[in-house]
Amino acid sequence: MTKQPDVTIMTLEDVYALSQDQGIARAAKLLKLPPKVLMAYRKEYLSGGKPSDTTLTSLEGERASGSVAILKGDCAVARFTETNTIKSAAEHFGITQRAVRSMRKKSHIRVDWTAEFAKIREKVDKSARQWDTHPCLTGDWGILADAHLPFIHWPTFIRALTTFEYLGIRNIVLPGDWFDFEDISKFDFGGEQFDIAAELDIGRDVLFKLAERFDRVVFFRGNHEERLFKFLKRIARLYEKHPDLMRFQAIVGRGETETVWQQYKSFMETDGVEISNDSLAFINDDIMVCHASSTTRIPPNSEQVLGEKYRRHVIGCHMHNYGQRVGLDGKTLATRIGTVCDPDKIFYKTKRTTTHYEWVKGFAWVKDGKIGTWIDCPAWYDAMGLEIPGEE
Ligand SMILES: [Fe+2]
Repeated sequence: MTKQPDVTIMTLEDVYALSQDQGIARAAKLLKLPPKVLMAYRKEYLSGGKPSDTTLTSLEGERASGSVAILKGDCAVARFTETNTIKSAAEHFGITQRAVRSMRKKSHIRVDWTAEFAKIREKVDKSARQWDTHPCLTGDWGILADAHLPFIHWPTFIRALTTFEYLGIRNIVLPGDWFDFEDISKFDFGGEQFDIAAELDIGRDVLFKLAERFDRVVFFRGNHEERLFKFLKRIARLYEKHPDLMRFQAIVGRGETETVWQQYKSFMETDGVEISNDSLAFINDDIMVCHASSTTRIPPNSEQVLGEKYRRHVIGCHMHNYGQRVGLDGKTLATRIGTVCDPDKIFYKTKRTTTHYEWVKGFAWVKDGKIGTWIDCPAWYDAMGLEIPGEE
């Protein structure tokens, strides 16, 4: 007994004649077609043998040469669903939608995967953005990390500004944790000294002052800014649930259309101040400044790893300690730059005992493509025989 081929070439007339001769059930069996599909072809023949579905139009070649390619039942149904819905396939072949789905799975026809997901993708592409928005900066930049306002260490901050002025640096980048937001810490480590509004006011005042004197101030997010976003998002959800809370909207300034992030941005921005919803920026393309999410206690281990990953020199912060090292490639420089905050004023720092490295007050800059740092460690400068930048 010969094996039935997957594709049988017959004319519609042949199909009709066979089914007349053998009966629907037996003809269907011989052709390996579901009886309902066979019925559809019979109907097509009786209506004049003209193509009535896309299955057959795609096989015009065979049709022109006088024969019709009738795919096995599963394939015919599957092909039909490529340009028609499951529902219309079910109607066309007179079978259930469940049967159409099942035959489609069994057919093993080659799938056009791009077309398969096109409609779903369209919905995603309409809303989902590409997050390639990190600032790409050029020129000379002063870098002030982790000020944790209002707990800034004023002498270090003033020293940094003096140094930048001395070096002729006209731009400042603030790589996260500009604010502390101790009142909304997820730990109960706040000193209950400043509420969010007070912190926002003080932080913004300092920012605006900087904007008056420097050409550009670029400010991006650290984990402490994220405290605010998470908090305001929760408040926003609460408002949606309890509309009577809307009378308090002036407190958080919740508008109808603005997202929490947009509100924060418009609150913080002024001429010369650019707020970025990123935790990294590139300077002159070969230096990355970041407030990394994964940071090691030992400085600058994570910066070294990031340098290898991003193939750049890395200036990191977040852990408030200091370290500098040349990477394994002998080319990339990993630097952790300390903090501009006052550790003694930070409740969670002073009231807990940890094995973390001691915080180091410091700041950094990029001048003529080179990285410079200052740290509050006079003994180190003495030992190295170095002049402290900005000092007479
Ligand atoms: Fe920090």
